[in-house]
Amino acid sequence: MQRPTPDIVRLFPTFLWQRRLDSASCEPLNRNLLAHADALQRDGRGTRTGSAWQSEHQLHQAPVFAALAAHIDAAMADVLAFVKVAHAPLHLTGCWLNVLDPGAAHAVHTHPNNFLSGVYYVQTQSGADTINFHDPRPQTAIIRPPVTELTAYNTDQVVVPVSDGTLLVFPAWLPHSVSANLSGRARVSVSFNAMFSAYDTTMSSPLWGPMQDPDPVRG
Ligand SMILES: [Fe+2]
Repeated sequence: MQRPTPDIVRLFPTFLWQRRLDSASCEPLNRNLLAHADALQRDGRGTRTGSAWQSEHQLHQAPVFAALAAHIDAAMADVLAFVKVAHAPLHLTGCWLNVLDPGAAHAVHTHPNNFLSGVYYVQTQSGADTINFHDPRPQTAIIRPPVTELTAYNTDQVVVPVSDGTLLVFPAWLPHSVSANLSGRARVSVSFNAMFSAYDTTMSSPLWGPMQDPDPVRG
């Protein structure tokens, strides 16, 4: 007798919003951002750690950022609609350029006290064209049997390919890292964080009773 196929329900999926800007949009934008990164470094601005450089964190207030801001705003609106947090104003709390020269990497980290984080890719190439996302559930590392195939249900890391003009948005709590730049040229990106405006006074009341919906959510 054939057994019925069981239902597999996704309990707590994590989103990664991604889009690649078209060439007409991203090429002039990337040229401007690269020139800005060069100018800041020439002026001794930002922070250099070995072969990695990072600008100050208020780039979103610079005119060079304006062209990217509209794309980020649209992405964040998409995400809020997707997670059903509509009509909640978000604002950027930080935005900065990252330049990882050959050999440079970025260790696993999160962006606390923000709701969303994201990255826009300015200059990538083979050997410097991925970002790693890590399973935020440390319990899953307790037992890791060998598997016949890596899937979303048994992996602890997802490597996402990116290219010039890729825009990513993800939950700020999601751990991520960048592997060492194995190319011969710098990997350049813009990172940003966003948080709800006036969250403490408008959105942080305790969730008692009916907000804890007892109905099952089907994945
Ligand atoms: Fe990050």
